[in-house]
Amino acid sequence: MATTKVLLTDLAPTVSHVPSNYIRPISDRPNLSDVQISDQGFIPLIDLRGLEGPNREDIIKQIGQACQHDGFFQVKNHGIPMTMISKIMGLAREFFRLPESERLKNYSDDPSKTTRLSTSFNVKTEKVSNWRDFLRLHCYPLEDYVHEWPSNPPSLREDLAEYCTSIRGLALRLLEAISESLGLQRDYIEKALGKQAQHMALNYYPPCPQPELTYGLPGHTDPNLITILLQDDVPGLQVLRNGKWIAVNPIPNTFIINIGDQMQVISNDQHKSVLHRAVVNCNKERISIPTFYCPSPDAVIGPAKELINDDQPAVYRNFTYGEYYEKFWNRGLATECCLDMFRVSGA
Ligand code: OGA
Ligand code: NI
Repeated sequence: MATTKVLLTDLAPTVSHVPSNYIRPISDRPNLSDVQISDQGFIPLIDLRGLEGPNREDIIKQIGQACQHDGFFQVKNHGIPMTMISKIMGLAREFFRLPESERLKNYSDDPSKTTRLSTSFNVKTEKVSNWRDFLRLHCYPLEDYVHEWPSNPPSLREDLAEYCTSIRGLALRLLEAISESLGLQRDYIEKALGKQAQHMALNYYPPCPQPELTYGLPGHTDPNLITILLQDDVPGLQVLRNGKWIAVNPIPNTFIINIGDQMQVISNDQHKSVLHRAVVNCNKERISIPTFYCPSPDAVIGPAKELINDDQPAVYRNFTYGEYYEKFWNRGLATECCLDMFRVSGA
């Protein structure tokens, strides 16, 4: 049966089987029975209390280790109030429950639009669709974008703006810590980003009748600098470690931080941008809200000079983030990381 709905939110409840355009070839399915469940400690949980005080050195060490070995860590005592977290989760839920006609007002399949509701990943370039709808928003500087955000639910602009400002504060604190952990000046990374940019997505993964045939998001690395992910209590995120997919168990009121491609470049491969994916399930809808902290499009990104030496020559050439970002969206989410296209030959 041909897909007759633009958005998956409206299609999913009407089907008892996954439509053919969502079905992955057999060699590219999630193989859910072969996934390991993460036990405590798989993704380091770092307590940020005291980061600006007596515990700074110790916390920075933990962050540095996690960036090098894991590419992923979780944070608690991050300073974002619990009330704000539940408000934003509630808002996202409310948005995807709006009537179809109301949601469709924000629809666009053009990845260059700075505010848009869309589905899958990039419907213009991909062969197989993903089991996801998403509202994607540019959010820094706020005053450039807030006026184009959806005006329904009525509190969306105000609540999300407040959230973006708080998350930006957390991102900058983390970037300072990461700079220091690499032995760079505290403001090195922030300065490398030009005017900086911040994007966010509200991801909505509806229940799926055959989760073994499709992905919410297939394996990918994030193209940006660091990602700060808020998720509800439904598991779905999986991280690749030593060739094995590991399911992340959500911990309430924590954020998952992952290193993106630009951080791997700036650190000259000391930090790892790790493959991850989102799988879906039969029973429960799932919401995740990533914030992507980014360089501005005209910022020139390359390995930090301080991290280049005879033993570790520059692994990447310099490029603008705009160039990188365009490649990312146009080639579709592929398991080979976009980074390979920017390596110095022979490195
Ligand atoms: C992403 C992503 C994971 C999730 O949006 O880049 O990896 O759990 N999301 O939704
Ligand atoms: Ni991602």
